[in-house]
Amino acid sequence: MAATKTAGLAKRKQSTGGSAKQTVKYKGLDLGTSRIVAATMSGNQAVFEEQLNAFVALPCTKMTLSTLEQEGILHHVEGDEILVFGNRADEFANIMGGTMRRPMDTGLLNPREPRNLQVIELAVRALVGPAAGDERIGYSIPSAPEGREGELTYHEEALREVLEDLGYKADSVNEGLAVVYTTLKDSDFTGIGMSFGGGLCNVCVAFLGMPVLNFCTTHAGDYIDLKAASVIGETPTTVRLHKESDDFDLTGRPATAMDRALSIYYKDVIKTVVGALQRELLETKRMPKLVLPVPPAKTTGTGRTSLGIRLVSSSSRCRAPTTVLMTSL
Ligand SMILES: Nc1ncnc2c1ncn2[C@@H]1O[C@H](COP(=O)(O)OP(=O)(O)O)[C@@H](O)[C@H]1O
Ligand SMILES: [Mg+2]
Repeated sequence: MAATKTAGLAKRKQSTGGSAKQTVKYKGLDLGTSRIVAATMSGNQAVFEEQLNAFVALPCTKMTLSTLEQEGILHHVEGDEILVFGNRADEFANIMGGTMRRPMDTGLLNPREPRNLQVIELAVRALVGPAAGDERIGYSIPSAPEGREGELTYHEEALREVLEDLGYKADSVNEGLAVVYTTLKDSDFTGIGMSFGGGLCNVCVAFLGMPVLNFCTTHAGDYIDLKAASVIGETPTTVRLHKESDDFDLTGRPATAMDRALSIYYKDVIKTVVGALQRELLETKRMPKLVLPVPPAKTTGTGRTSLGIRLVSSSSRCRAPTTVLMTSL
């Protein structure tokens, strides 16, 4: 078995929850196109760690190997190649003037990446390790992008196998519904969960914890990076790093060409998801009678900078909202 290192894991945040007395241990995985986020319990605290869902393959030399080991960078030797994966993969991609290889694309396993499951397995192993005894793990799956329902079945089952091979009992959960469960306890899990990710925006409308409808749109974070990069002649990685930096602020007047392009494509992403939500709500026959406004839920990723989308209805009690307003961007 080749060397892998697990040092340098990024701690995202901590929150309370759960019980220290659990007999069966639970872990959670948010398997996103851009990042894999793992939740484990430490006592009664949930601890979140994340890794970029990306890698680069380098020629295997003794010098590269010892540098990676010294720096504690996640890697795996495979024949005459070293796979460098996780949070520091983009440093190598930049040095080599290329882009990172991505195990997932638009929310699902990337069919053009033959190492897709292998690299996800390496990242999951680095984040949560193999199961120790009787452990369960919940993992997120997206809604199927239009026309790709068959691929979602493969995605869900192939990932389940990876987790089962690591010894876990694995339960999939729809990503939008997971947002409802984590953020809408105060409204009895009734509301709209939205997850603005790299590959997809996932949306779930739930009533008392039951999904009434869920869907996704493919205009999301990667789309913003690609489109903004192409109109200003930059690489998507440069755009992404700026977008994720503390300097980036969508609220003011764009100061640079990159900010202008980003602001335009952020609006595009939000308009697309709001338009789709409006259509889905009007079309669904399963919508229970709700007293609106339904509290929307906001989550990580691209959604961190979208300042909120509020749904309002022209009447206080109706089958579906007739007006969808974006309050700010
Ligand atoms: N602090 C941040 N500010 C703005 N955008 C961010 C920030 N962090 C991540 N993003 C963007 O959010 C998107 C990915 O979010 P994430 O939830 O990690 O994606 P995924 O669910 O696809 O793994 C990417 O486009 C990324 O560039
Ligand atoms: Mg995500």
